[in-house]
Order: sequence, then structure tokens, then C-alpha cells
Amino acid sequence: MTADFTPKPRSSQLLLVAVVTVCAVGSGWVVGKLRQVRVEPAHMNPDPIALPPATRGELLFGVYCVSCHGPEGQGDGPSAVTLRPPPRDFAARPWRFAVTRESIRKVTLDGIPGTAMAANRTLPPADVDALVEYVYHLAVSRKTVVHEPTEEESLLRAAGFIDMRGTEPPALVVADMAGKEVKLSDLKGKAVMLHFWGTSCVHCVKELPHLKELEKSLAGRKFTVLHISADADDLHDAQKLVDRFAPGLRVYTDATGLGSARFEVQTLPTVWLIAPDGKAIGRAHGMKDWTSPAMRKLIEHAW
Ligand code: HEC
Repeated sequence: MTADFTPKPRSSQLLLVAVVTVCAVGSGWVVGKLRQVRVEPAHMNPDPIALPPATRGELLFGVYCVSCHGPEGQGDGPSAVTLRPPPRDFAARPWRFAVTRESIRKVTLDGIPGTAMAANRTLPPADVDALVEYVYHLAVSRKTVVHEPTEEESLLRAAGFIDMRGTEPPALVVADMAGKEVKLSDLKGKAVMLHFWGTSCVHCVKELPHLKELEKSLAGRKFTVLHISADADDLHDAQKLVDRFAPGLRVYTDATGLGSARFEVQTLPTVWLIAPDGKAIGRAHGMKDWTSPAMRKLIEHAW
């Protein structure tokens, strides 16, 4: 009886062995093919080690940085025209931070918040090294041009504002709790501060009394602040919070829902200063000392 059954397991074992062999050989062939496919275009996608770092740095600069900083690092890439602040001309001084390899590395990796200089966190370390070396070379190999800031530039910088002078601010319509609308374009003749804040932003709330103080000290002057809540679904919540921390201030909401994007509100608070002629003067991101002499001087200079 047992003899009847013995051939069956043997043939199925053989079958199994055959299947396993075919699979192993087959997958080996496929992997081999894939390897070939991956290896073949190596000359088009060079290994970082295959190029001298200087050449690789220039190549990477051409891919990631030229659109803003320009081929020679003169800050004249095709995207530069519309950017405020403009991309750095690497030969110009002063820089925002130090002209050192460490500082270039930090800026390349982390970017500069509130500017078009974005973070590059996915670059392999060897590429970062190559880029840093190349940018450092661009920064020190050309004759440096020292830019003496004008009085207005110094005022903006001292108050922590990005220079936006002469640009047309985006359109803005805000509404208060009663639904009363205010158009930015209707406020010509006054200096206007647009204060984009949020109920979930602790330091925005902390700043409200200081802003109120600033407004009070400029009462009677042609100066208006619009406190625009960027995050409250219900404006009543935002107004309640303001009533607690800075009673008397009126809260607005951005009626079109486009204000935050148009005014580059990437962080809260974001503040824009608009001149009486309707043109922008500057924008600032993050906490500021609203009652400092520098701030007051800047706002008074807006007239
Ligand atoms: C979309 C435009 C844009 C691109 C792309 C760009 N940058 Fe910038 N970069 C800027 C702007 C704008 C500034 C000036 C910011 C300021 O004034 O604070 C800047 C400033 C810098 C500075 C000067 C920092 C200082 O202390 O003043 C360095 C260094 C720099 N960028 C490196 C790079 C490198 C490296 C790349 C490519 C990986 C790159 N940038 C790509 C816009 C860009």
C-alpha cells in the first residue's frame, strides 16, 4: 500500500525543486537586468565622487540656485526681478549673516524664513559640501561691492522689516464682526499697518497690548492698524481674546480668504506697513519690539 503512495510525494518534491530553481534563476536574471538598467545611464547621472567637488558644486549651483542668484552669483537670475528681498549678490556686502562656510551651509540647509531663500534638506551631504565650497568661492573671488545703506534702509533694518518700498501691495478686503468691510485701497492718505495674527499664536496675543500702546501714542496722526485674524473660524472668538488682552482694538477677518497667501503670511505674526500713497514700505515676520524708538521712527517716516 505504501509503495503506491511513494512516487507521488517524490514527483511533487521534484516539481517543487524545479519551480524553485526556475524562480531563482528567473529572478536572478531579472535582478541582473535591473542592475544593467541602473548601471547603464551612469554617465548621465554621475556619482558625486566621480566629479571634482568644484565642478560638482558649479553643476549643483546651476540646478538649485541659478534661477535666483544668477550664473555668477550676482543676484540676477530670471526669478530675481520680483523678489523682495532680492537674492543676494554674493560679492556684495553686507550679508545678512557672516560670509563663512559655516554660515553658507546653514543658510543652504535651513533657508531664511520670510524670504524666497528656501531650505534644502534633501541634498546629500557631499552635495552640500560641494555647493558650500562653490558659493564661498563666488563670495570671495570677485571684487566685493560694499553697499552703504540709505537712511530708509537703515530704519527698516533696525525695526526688523524687509524692504518692500515702491511695490504695489496685493488687494485686500477685510470685514469686522458686524460684517462692515474695509478695503485697503480706500485707506489712501493714511499710513496703514496690516497685522496678521492668530488666536493660536501665543506671542501674537502677547504683542497685542504693545501694538495698542503704539496705536495710542500715534492717535490723531494719519495711521491705522488693521488686526486681521488669520486663524479663527469664528471672529467672535478672536474679538473675545483681544477684548481680554487689549480691550478697544477691533478685529477683522480677511473677507476673500486670499489675503494670507497674497501677503505671504507664512508665519504669525506677519506685518505689512503701507505708505499713504498706497505703496508698500516693508513687511516683517515674527515678534517685534513695537514700542522701540526704531519702530516709531520707521512708522513716522512713512508719512
Ligand atoms: C527662489 C530664489 C532663491 C533660490 C533658488 C536660492 N536662493 Fe539663496 N537667497 C535668496 C534670497 C531672496 C536671499 C536674500 C535673503 C535676505 O536678504 O535675507 C538669498 C540669500 C542667500 C545667501 C546669503 C545669506 C546671507 O547671509 O546674506 C546665501 C549664502 C544663499 N542664498 C545661498 C543659496 C544657495 C546655495 C542656493 C542653492 C542651493 C540658493 N541660495 C538658492 C533666494 C534664493
